[in-house]
Amino acid sequence: MQVLVFSNQKGGVGKSTLSVLFAHWLAERHGARVGVIDLDTQCNCSKSLHRFDSGMEAVALFESQPVRIPEAAASSITLLRGSKRLADLELAKPEVVIPLFRKQVTLLARAFDYVVVDTPPALGLRMSAALIAASRVVCPIELEEYSIDGVTDMLKTIFGVQKRYNPELRLAGIVANRFNPHSVRQKAALHDLVLHYSDFVLPAKISTRSAIPEGLAAGVPVWQLAKSSAREASVEVLQVFELVKQRMERTAAAEVEEEGAS
Ligand SMILES: Nc1ncnc2c1ncn2[C@@H]1O[C@H](COP(=O)(O)OP(=O)(O)O)[C@@H](O)[C@H]1O
Ligand SMILES: [Mg+2]
Repeated sequence: MQVLVFSNQKGGVGKSTLSVLFAHWLAERHGARVGVIDLDTQCNCSKSLHRFDSGMEAVALFESQPVRIPEAAASSITLLRGSKRLADLELAKPEVVIPLFRKQVTLLARAFDYVVVDTPPALGLRMSAALIAASRVVCPIELEEYSIDGVTDMLKTIFGVQKRYNPELRLAGIVANRFNPHSVRQKAALHDLVLHYSDFVLPAKISTRSAIPEGLAAGVPVWQLAKSSAREASVEVLQVFELVKQRMERTAAAEVEEEGAS
């Protein structure tokens, strides 16, 4: 099992969108049992996945009472929904609630093949807790706002958590989302990033396509919409997801080898 966090301290880059689509993709295309934890008080991910609501709130994972969820079936999504109560956590003691969250997520993950965590757009307690409890992280970025320096800062945060708290954490990829294929500047920026950070930046992108939010508003992933614009969007999204999954597995295989060697 893997715990995958979609993370970036910036809002509007596609964390919630990609969390929801990736959960659908894993359940549908890989027959996986997928748990989804929504740590954002805006609850965008919970709104898109409301039909998979387990009745449990994600905030309960920060408490000592063990969270019990119904047994998951193959090809299913189980949502632990976001709520306003999550905001109170920012005032809680990190040394108390983060270890509780990590423990609860580890227990919860045993019931699933994958756990996907959507995070709020801030470097607060919930973002730290997610990175500390995770095995993989994906960072969606929007090239308009990101220079190479921005990516460097994000890598520092992730590798800082890895070094200090969670040696198992691996970056499964930086994903360029809301890409404008007509922008010469964005094309050049993506090219530069892939060159500078070939280990991290996926050689693929997801353009701005209205079919993506349209699908989510209707409660379905973009590849289930019968429209030609949805088809183009699907090709890009699925290509990115294949790469993310390959990287998740590649790092897992490398770890098994490392363990064998030591
Ligand atoms: N590739 C895309 N094409 C079109 N709209 C997108 C795309 N990715 C995200 N969006 C839209 O952009 C907004 C911000 O995305 P969201 O996933 O909520 O970002 P975050 O969770 O990082 O704040 C949402 O309205 C979402 O529907
Ligand atoms: Mg969001």
